[in-house]
Amino acid sequence: MATIETLFSAETLHQRVRELGEQITHDYQQSDAPLLVVGVLKGATLFLADLVRCIGCPLEFDFVAISSYAGATQTSGEVRILKDLDIAVTGKHVLIVEDILDTGLTLKFSYLIESLLARHAKSVRVCVLLDKPSRRRVEVAVDYCGFQIEDRFVVGYGMDYAEQYRNLPYIGVVQSVS
Ligand code: IMP
Ligand code: MG
Repeated sequence: MATIETLFSAETLHQRVRELGEQITHDYQQSDAPLLVVGVLKGATLFLADLVRCIGCPLEFDFVAISSYAGATQTSGEVRILKDLDIAVTGKHVLIVEDILDTGLTLKFSYLIESLLARHAKSVRVCVLLDKPSRRRVEVAVDYCGFQIEDRFVVGYGMDYAEQYRNLPYIGVVQSVS
């Protein structure tokens, strides 16, 4: 069994998600166009579910699936969009919601931002729960960030190691597997 060391408790996460929700509400509430929140499957699902409940303006949400890790803890550099949006983006303010920004390769080489802009999104911003700046290989502009963390592989609150641990209500670091 693996031991998980807690990095952010459920309470800490909910407090920070509430703050992000308030900030996002403040930034979009006077807006002239609808807000579309786009979660990146599967890691962002729990974060998105909590975040949208803390956003006080009308919104739609949808998901995209992007492949890059294939069960490994190192990026393969190969990125494919596996599931596109079901909802139209034209004229909407899009907020991409990601669990964690690591190398940046997934967002960059999926061309997700470019593809949304090409479909006439009015604006595209990025919200990540966690950011590991020391791991960045390509630059990605982040508009909203929950926490910056050191170079450690984290699980929980939607994030996995080999599809395990997504259901943990907190975020932790896998210590050992025996
Ligand atoms: P990037 O392309 O290297 O920025 O990685 C983006 C994706 O890799 C994230 O959205 C996660 O799904 C996954 N990922 C990166 N670091 C971690 C981690 O520490 N734990 C779990 N998943 C991670
Ligand atoms: Mg992700």
